[in-house]
Amino acid sequence: MITDAVRAILEDRIDETIADPTRAITLPPAVYTDPEFFEFEKDSIFMREWICVGRQEEIPERGDYLTVTIADEPLVIVRDETGQIRAMSSVCQHRSMVITDPGFLPEDKWYGEMSESSGNCGMQLRCPYHFWVYDLRGQLVGAPEMRRTEGFDRREIRLPNLKVEIWNGFIFVNFDLDAAPLAPRMWQATEYLENWHLEDMAVVDLGRLENLPWNWKVMLENVIEIYHADRLHLPIHEMAPASKMLLTPSSEDDAIILSRAETTHADYSFNATMKALFPVIDTLTEADTSVAYFGIAPPTMSFGTSADSLLYLLTIPKSVDKIDLVYGTLFPKKLLETRRFKEVQALSSSGLNDLMEQDVAATKSVQRGLKSRFAPRGRYSWQEEPIPHFNRWLVKRYRSALEMV
Ligand SMILES: [Fe+2]
Repeated sequence: MITDAVRAILEDRIDETIADPTRAITLPPAVYTDPEFFEFEKDSIFMREWICVGRQEEIPERGDYLTVTIADEPLVIVRDETGQIRAMSSVCQHRSMVITDPGFLPEDKWYGEMSESSGNCGMQLRCPYHFWVYDLRGQLVGAPEMRRTEGFDRREIRLPNLKVEIWNGFIFVNFDLDAAPLAPRMWQATEYLENWHLEDMAVVDLGRLENLPWNWKVMLENVIEIYHADRLHLPIHEMAPASKMLLTPSSEDDAIILSRAETTHADYSFNATMKALFPVIDTLTEADTSVAYFGIAPPTMSFGTSADSLLYLLTIPKSVDKIDLVYGTLFPKKLLETRRFKEVQALSSSGLNDLMEQDVAATKSVQRGLKSRFAPRGRYSWQEEPIPHFNRWLVKRYRSALEMV
């Protein structure tokens, strides 16, 4: 839906936001704060782009599933009987109960939001309401007491499926069944991160922070701009300083925007010692560890490298000023079996806390400022170069949605 308010926002000095980084200005504050604009983004971004929803090793066995809700669309991601990962709407095609929601809620859960779930569903998904049963491809295979219902044919009913693509172990889904493949548009990350062998890594310390009060774009901007590394994060980001940022051009057709900074030492990591607590990943070359990478694959995925691991964050949008943040750290699979892995890993992840506390303070406060009538159309430092790239990525999609009306 494109309202007059949305049109007005998209006519507000938008050309200047996608200018050369030396001349660009920030996006209109309303793109981060206006609920109508978020509704517009559902159609222009979330229903069209590849959306990262997790890692393939989260659902290793047949029947394993996880749920995720993207822009009010409840989805179930499941490994089917052939071992293939599928994504589909989890809205029952009978009377709309979400089939992965529980059929029993204790009184203390009557209020507030439904949580996501994961587990193994066997070979079927059954709606708790009236026991309509779907197979792992979404086909309705059972519906009790429907014989008297005229013209009802369960073979005609299935859960709407989404497109799925696995990139380096990350599960991406797309509501647009005609979407072009993701991998060619990830070429930069595929190339730069080749020696990490992300597909052979496994996620550890998977967690979720709920209802964080800022817009999804504020989150992604924070991950890719290094300008604040030498300021807000002083001194714990010194091993990948903003002054050593490498410019990384990208096209608005790419699915990823990368940020890079030269590291001061090979075994870099983000904790008080600035050193990795595990050995440097043995497939990495000297060239690989001389640069730290930060990237976003909008709208949900972002990551940052250390010499021994890769931290990723999934920004799950809930409303214009609310997100859930799913996080996990990838380590080489063989490292997980080594002695004291858990203990060292706990130290390693606690080292990130300072960084997180600072970023949360900033992003939460930026959202507060964006609501002000005095929120500026600001200018960028060269060390924020990836943000105008992100503006271009966004504006291209906003404009193509406008043209399609
Ligand atoms: Fe940060």
